[in-house]
Amino acid sequence: MSGGAGPLDDAGRFGDVRRFDTLDSTNAYLLREAGAGAAEGTVAVADYQTAGRGRLGRSWEAPPGTSLLLSILLRPALPAGELTLCTAAVALGAADACATVSGIAPGIKWPNDLVVGDRKLGGVLAESDPDARGGAPGCVTVVVGVGINVDWPGPEGTGATSLRQAAGRPVHREALLAALLEELIPRRASLASDEGRARLAAELRDRCVTIGTQVRVELASGSLVGRAIGLGASGQLLVDTGTAVRMVTAGDVVHTRAEPPA
Ligand code: BTN
Repeated sequence: MSGGAGPLDDAGRFGDVRRFDTLDSTNAYLLREAGAGAAEGTVAVADYQTAGRGRLGRSWEAPPGTSLLLSILLRPALPAGELTLCTAAVALGAADACATVSGIAPGIKWPNDLVVGDRKLGGVLAESDPDARGGAPGCVTVVVGVGINVDWPGPEGTGATSLRQAAGRPVHREALLAALLEELIPRRASLASDEGRARLAAELRDRCVTIGTQVRVELASGSLVGRAIGLGASGQLLVDTGTAVRMVTAGDVVHTRAEPPA
């Protein structure tokens, strides 16, 4: 981990937290900053995004002041196949932060949704820039963005929820942000070693509520039905279709029913 020269101090804390009333997208902003050489650990937080981005080219919308919308710039030295662990580190940190400030411990629905039961509470989107300057040789530049519905249960008709709704009381966004950045410190450190990465992967398997359920996976090429039986080494979803085990790297998952207890 880098020392005191950048926003990550010697204790690994995120010291450069940039706050905005409005941004196009915190991910887009940090990718621009990364391209201009911003240091690892820079954080962008916005009250409102005019062009928030979701997974698979979707938009991410929230009225002003209702959600925690932030992105974190990471520049880890990671093997190419393990980049998804950056997203996992942030999703796990966000889930634990929710538990700390609200008492609600979300699960992680593959690949990175924060869920309470079958309702979506938040999402994580990692974007990388292979050309960005500013990292040490061998490091990759990844911007990981998180959107958490704090005071607004998501767009109508989506069946999403908010921390306020799930906890039955208001939750303070600043407290959630502070808890999330605190949770990220040890997880960022874990990205730097084989043992740490194995720990993150194990933590993700433990928290992934998709494993053990019947799923339908919407792929670009059609859909796939089966039972989610685990995660591959790089976070792929392993789906047993009854005739084969398929490895899914990207797609939308619908939990069709929980597996009955053994
Ligand atoms: C998903 O589709 O589930 C991922 C949503 C990620 C949304 C967050 S909000 C903060 C950050 N900036 C963006 O433009 N997107 C992410």
